Amino acid sequence: MTSVLRIEHGAVAFSGRPVLRDLSLIVHTGDVLAILGANGSGKSTLIRAALGLVPLSDGSVELFETPLRRFRQWRRIGYVPQRMGAGSGVPATVREVVAAGRLGKRGFLRPPGARDRKAVHDAIAMVGLGSRAKDPVATLSGGQQQRTLIARALAGEPDLLVLDEPTAGVDAASQEAFAHALRVFVDGGGTVVLVAHELGPLRPVVTRAVVVHDGVIAHDGPVPEPAGHHADPDHDHVHPHAPDHGEGFWGTR
Ligand SMILES: Nc1ncnc2c1ncn2[C@@H]1O[C@H](COP(=O)(O)OP(=O)(O)O)[C@@H](O)[C@H]1O
Ligand SMILES: [Mg+2]
Repeated sequence: MTSVLRIEHGAVAFSGRPVLRDLSLIVHTGDVLAILGANGSGKSTLIRAALGLVPLSDGSVELFETPLRRFRQWRRIGYVPQRMGAGSGVPATVREVVAAGRLGKRGFLRPPGARDRKAVHDAIAMVGLGSRAKDPVATLSGGQQQRTLIARALAGEPDLLVLDEPTAGVDAASQEAFAHALRVFVDGGGTVVLVAHELGPLRPVVTRAVVVHDGVIAHDGPVPEPAGHHADPDHDHVHPHAPDHGEGFWGTR
């Protein structure tokens, strides 16, 4: 099985304080991996280290089976960082922001072709913003702005999508739209690593969960049931999008 990401004995420290400790993780093609854990447990640091954005003090990272220091195929990866604040004060439209996601693919000097325009159009439609494409991002809700960033990552047609808390503080409609976009991306052969507090409507799309606790992986396997899940009045509302293989899938690993 092809690995998209492999961390072996990874460690990260900030000013001598260990934040990730001897952490090993393999993400395979087709995984939809949720990274769960308390605030400050090291989730963002884990994905930042995986993408070479923070240095490891120990251990190694491979992306697409290439050691990080030799990896150059960045266009294969779409990354949506935590709280990027798209359009804060920037008058760009949804279409312009999403089209920026094609730059790595087409190069800065070549004008966009039909293939670029289609990728941008499809990505905007995938996150349910087709009717807002010409609107300035600043006029959108927080959730719609977050969807714009996700569409920008999708427009680059990555093989791996890495998202840090894509649904935090996002309205229910945007969460549903994102879950749908993720499903389409995964059905097209994409691999996903996402950090989340609450999975909500993403739950049926996620195939595997890693729980980070204090810089180490405390769980790697089926998505854990949140405490009090069945008492949650919203419980039923996650099921209309459940995959055909249903809940039993979690138990087959
Ligand atoms: N660039 C940094 N410099 C110093 N400390 C950091 C830095 N990034 C994160 N930390 C610290 O590392 C710990 C883990 O942070 P983070 O990975 O952001 O956690 P999470 O995403 O799980 O909330 C926290 O204590 C945080 O304050
Ligand atoms: Mg974080």
